[in-house]
Amino acid sequence: MTLLSTLALDEGTRATALDEVAAFLDRCGVEDARRDARALLFAAGGFTAADLLLEPTAALAGAARAKLRDYAQRRAAREPVSRILGARGFWTHDLVVAPGVLDPRPDTETLIELSLELLRERRGEALLILDLGVGSGAILCALLAELPNARAIGVDLSADACAAAALNLSRCGFSRRASVLRGRWADSLAARFDLIVSNPPYIASGELDALEPEVRLHDPRLALDGGADGFDCYREIVEALPRLLAPTGAAALEAGDGQARSLAALLAEKGLEPAGIRKDAGGRERAVAARRGR
Ligand SMILES: C[S@@+](CC[C@H](N)C(=O)[O-])C[C@H]1O[C@@H](n2cnc3c(N)ncnc32)[C@H](O)[C@@H]1O
Repeated sequence: MTLLSTLALDEGTRATALDEVAAFLDRCGVEDARRDARALLFAAGGFTAADLLLEPTAALAGAARAKLRDYAQRRAAREPVSRILGARGFWTHDLVVAPGVLDPRPDTETLIELSLELLRERRGEALLILDLGVGSGAILCALLAELPNARAIGVDLSADACAAAALNLSRCGFSRRASVLRGRWADSLAARFDLIVSNPPYIASGELDALEPEVRLHDPRLALDGGADGFDCYREIVEALPRLLAPTGAAALEAGDGQARSLAALLAEKGLEPAGIRKDAGGRERAVAARRGR
């Protein structure tokens, strides 16, 4: 295999290993090759950025080199770093990234910010939160960390996602405040919620084949495919909101690129009052909020 033969990593120091892996990933077309090479080197070698700075010429042990070679080859085949290492930092937590479950994205932190803004006056209350399409549990772990008296339910159709969410909620210390249910959106729910959040699949089916290999080959289709126009899941979720929101309740939904205004219109059609649109760090409208109409 050509890729294998171009990464020798036979001997050398921490610094030369970093240079070699970064150059290899760059040749293989990986964006931000040096950043990824650093993350893989630290994980394989079991040392930190400070250790590299202080002792760049320390030898890299044989076992660490073998591990790094394996990691680098997987990254060259476009497996994301988070999947290779099985972990992803999100909000204030290190979450497990499990096969068959969407790798949570930094963009989704915009949804957390908007949700906390909606609950600004109510942070200490015994709120009930619902996450439709809970995935890894990233959103609930972040919200439960910020809302100390809240309880939450996460729903997902995927058994892998339900298991990953339960694991992450437990690892973050929230087992007693959160339940995970397997099911189709809100079909089996009768309660009323103070906050409903969702980051549903919103990519138009016709656009899936053009996604980056990191996404197309590693995130499950069930987490991505939003139907012909990308809005199938939004329509189902928004339809259920009036039934599920408490009288003072609010909803916050993540929007795909260019979808925020249409999503806001869909929420208004169901009689929900607009409660803000928040942009992500790249300036894109990323999260849309609405409150129950009076
Ligand atoms: C884009 S992912 C979001 C995962 C997680 N909330 C996050 O933000 O990282 C969408 C999730 O919706 C789930 N899903 C798709 N269709 C569903 C349905 N009909 N009912 C419940 N969950 C569904 C998928 O399995 C996936 O976990």
